Amino acid sequence: MGSINIKSICCIGAGYVGGPTMAVIADNCPEIKITIVDLNKERIVLWNSNDLNKIPVFEPGLKEIIKKVRNKNLFFSTDVPNAISNADMIFISVNTPTKTKGIGAGRASDISWVEACTRQVAEYAIGETIVVEKSTIPVKTAEAIRSILMSCSKEDDQTKTSFSVLSNPEFLAEGTAINDLQNPDRILIGGDDQGSIDALKNIYLNWVPENQVITTNLWSSELSKLIANAFLAQRISSINSISALCEVTGANIEEVKKAIGLDSRIGSKFLNAGPGFGGSCFKKDLLNLTYLCEHFGLPEVSKYWEQVISINNWQQYRIYKTVINKLFGNVNKKKIVILGFSFKSDTNDTRESPAILICKNLLNEGANLFIHDPKVKKSQVEFELRNVGIDNNLNWIFTEKLEGIFDNADAILVLTEWGIYKEINWKSVNKVLRNPSWLFDTRRIIDPDIVNDYEFNFWQVGRGNDL
Ligand code: UDX
Ligand code: ADP
Repeated sequence: MGSINIKSICCIGAGYVGGPTMAVIADNCPEIKITIVDLNKERIVLWNSNDLNKIPVFEPGLKEIIKKVRNKNLFFSTDVPNAISNADMIFISVNTPTKTKGIGAGRASDISWVEACTRQVAEYAIGETIVVEKSTIPVKTAEAIRSILMSCSKEDDQTKTSFSVLSNPEFLAEGTAINDLQNPDRILIGGDDQGSIDALKNIYLNWVPENQVITTNLWSSELSKLIANAFLAQRISSINSISALCEVTGANIEEVKKAIGLDSRIGSKFLNAGPGFGGSCFKKDLLNLTYLCEHFGLPEVSKYWEQVISINNWQQYRIYKTVINKLFGNVNKKKIVILGFSFKSDTNDTRESPAILICKNLLNEGANLFIHDPKVKKSQVEFELRNVGIDNNLNWIFTEKLEGIFDNADAILVLTEWGIYKEINWKSVNKVLRNPSWLFDTRRIIDPDIVNDYEFNFWQVGRGNDL
């Protein structure tokens, strides 16, 4: 394709990636008309809601941008065919969960949604169309997209179409998505058609410095996304494994973290010990990576990365076990307050949240859970717990308010590092707990010196203080 000036974009998938990404592009490129489409009618209704608190993705700064650009150059719709027909460029931003059935079940990504929407693109696109894969996908998906598009290309003169496929992985982290999109470390574009690469690059150059836009071949781009997430996840499993060692040796993970992070080769970011990583990407991408390595005859490499997932599962299990052990091996009918259900703070996303398995295990031991989260909905908690076999809500309740939640509690377990938990007045909480009681801080948000004088017992991940 020659030089292309993009005037109209369609984004398929109005989720955590598509919504914020298109909002930021719309804000920076007022001359481009962007339509985000989704099969999920309810989701589109919420994106179009007058009450901006109802938009389906909670992300700091997002609703302000939506207010500015919605119905000016950013539109939300369920009319997928029309949006595809009118677009010069189409972003595929649909979900790609881990397969639950068939070959590669539990490891490979299910790309049926990508395939379904690619077929729609093939059917409805008109003229020269650039297709950009944005979803987190297995390596070589772009090739599959290209094959489907080529085999479905229309030949008659009136509707002559041609496609080029680019990979443009998303590196935003939830909770900081707007800042990550506005000030990215880098933009990665994979492809082989220079005209299409330049068209996409020109969009980003509206706000990203040119030296931060890098181009590669399709496969390097797809693989780089998997590897970036694998390396990040590996850091968390590394620090979490050492948190356990700190607890038994009397070291303090915070001090170890500082000491190693000052080595510029290691760096200080992404070294917070916690309940294990969650979110829609890390586990899925690691599973994908291990599957890919095995497929290409590299079982040793596969096993190496598998260990990052094992440590993450173990960390969640270890935290649950610690709670049980400290409460004399018995939590039956004991009141445990769970602070935070989202997989990290500043997001309402609960996918793969460590809270899910920790709550499941505690519920199976007979505990009464009082679950709090400032942004997650009760229906979401219900959904996640049902998915792991907890199908009644007899012994857990969900609340969006902290008032009264600590009364007569046997234990409090901080699972998400929400800012409001850092403001809790532990002196007053101290008065209403049942004795002896425990405060478990898996996110290290509480200053041990502050709670030292209170009657409850205190445990923090990675802090070997009770030798
Ligand atoms: C991640 C990548 O960061 C992002 O680049 C990619 O596009 C998508 O996947 P996300 O999953 O949204 O983003 O959030 P991230 O901030 O990476 O956190 C992932 C998990 O790791 C969370 O559960 C978080 O609590 C945990 N984490 C993160 C730690 O336990 N310790 C840390 O130091 C950092
Ligand atoms: P992500 O975190 O990758 O953005 P989400 O699950 O939040 O994932 O969003 C993906 C969205 O894609 C969902 O809202 C889903 O309804 C939508 N979707 C999936 N397949 C299609 C399709 N063929 N056409 C339109 N939308 C689709």
